[in-house]
Amino acid sequence: MSAGFSRASGELRCDGVALAELAERFGTPLYVYSAASVEAAYRAYDAAFAAVPHRICYALKANSNGTLLRRLAGWGAGADIVSGGELAAALRAGFPPERIVFSGVGKTEAELQAGLDAGIGEFNAESEEEIRRLSALAGRAGRVAHVTLRVNPDIDPRSHPYISTGLRENKFGVDLTLAPELLRRARALPGIEVAGVQCHIGSQMTDLEPVEAAARAVAALSRQLLDEGFPLRSIDLGGGLGIDYTGDGAPDPRELAARVLPALEGLPLLLMLEPGRSLVAPAGALLARVLYVKENRGKRFVILDAGMNDLLRPSLYEAFHRIEPVVERGRQRAEVDVVGPVCETGDFFARSREMESVEPGDLVAVRDAGAYGFSMASNYNLRPRPAEVLVEAGAARLTRRRETFDDLVAAEQDG
Ligand code: LLP
Repeated sequence: MSAGFSRASGELRCDGVALAELAERFGTPLYVYSAASVEAAYRAYDAAFAAVPHRICYALKANSNGTLLRRLAGWGAGADIVSGGELAAALRAGFPPERIVFSGVGKTEAELQAGLDAGIGEFNAESEEEIRRLSALAGRAGRVAHVTLRVNPDIDPRSHPYISTGLRENKFGVDLTLAPELLRRARALPGIEVAGVQCHIGSQMTDLEPVEAAARAVAALSRQLLDEGFPLRSIDLGGGLGIDYTGDGAPDPRELAARVLPALEGLPLLLMLEPGRSLVAPAGALLARVLYVKENRGKRFVILDAGMNDLLRPSLYEAFHRIEPVVERGRQRAEVDVVGPVCETGDFFARSREMESVEPGDLVAVRDAGAYGFSMASNYNLRPRPAEVLVEAGAARLTRRRETFDDLVAAEQDG
């Protein structure tokens, strides 16, 4: 049986542990993760790219729970970070600095400095100005910064517009055609070593054609730069592999490898990947309890104790997440809106969704919430963020306690 969530005698479990028990023990709303599922996903990537030198740099933004990070570091993953906070979290979790790559379109001077001080592997630069700033800081510190240039290949990832990043109109990267000129200038700067080229065209990509096109574009540019004598050492194809939220299927790392590896044929470079979602999304669920069921003019609302502050994806992207009663009771199915308690019309998990009828007190699981769930959670409506539990080797452990009101006001100052 594959790792993660499955049903036994009508009851949803995480690696054998009954979710109903976890809800009793830790309360709701509750994020539950399967360590075995994350490990299987990581190993699937590692195996799929075994034919070439590669590094899987986990994108922390998907889920930065410290215990999960420590596991990933232990399995040999690198880290893809986008802020000083994620840098600190990656170092704290034990990722070796040389396996950390710093991405992001707006790194502050303090963040660049922290990356230099830590001796991270690469800075994914997104503009010439950023490289100049990095050069000045590196010069002052007597250090060398390895820079990979994020290019924008103007390719449509065919995903949600908010998570498309490789189109000309997006803020990310630099125009692919201007990259050689820019890198020639960058190469001459003190404290800068040009290490390679990076691209990341979008997230939740289930169509691999644009991914292959991007890989070909970045490979062609890398070949041109190598021919010019740039001492490149890596090629970074970003993250973005989609997962199967709907049950319609999604490509796996093997299919990704089959598409991109031919494009890189003969390139003497370390292949770097930055997956986030595909490593952790299916490994997590958000458990919530039904507070009320009510009808308004023929429309039935299921009101949960979890809201958009706990899991923002449906509200922000109209993202689809499967929602299942934790215990199936064979009740009639009905069309419902599954909503939260937050004072916003946009506070919903599903609209006009057909599911087995639930009643107040029942538990539901919002599936595939391991990525961009807790990491995008907020305290809106002064709601404490949920606790997080990790199921590992048949046992469940609290890896982050539920926030309290005191946590929420801890940074306030009298005045
Ligand atoms: N590398 C870079 C430079 C990125 O910008 C991202 C994600 C990743 C890697 C990881 O991509 P992944 O493998 O997770 O697709 N909050 C949105 C997703 C935003 C993704 C942003 N960048 C969501 O919930 O769908």
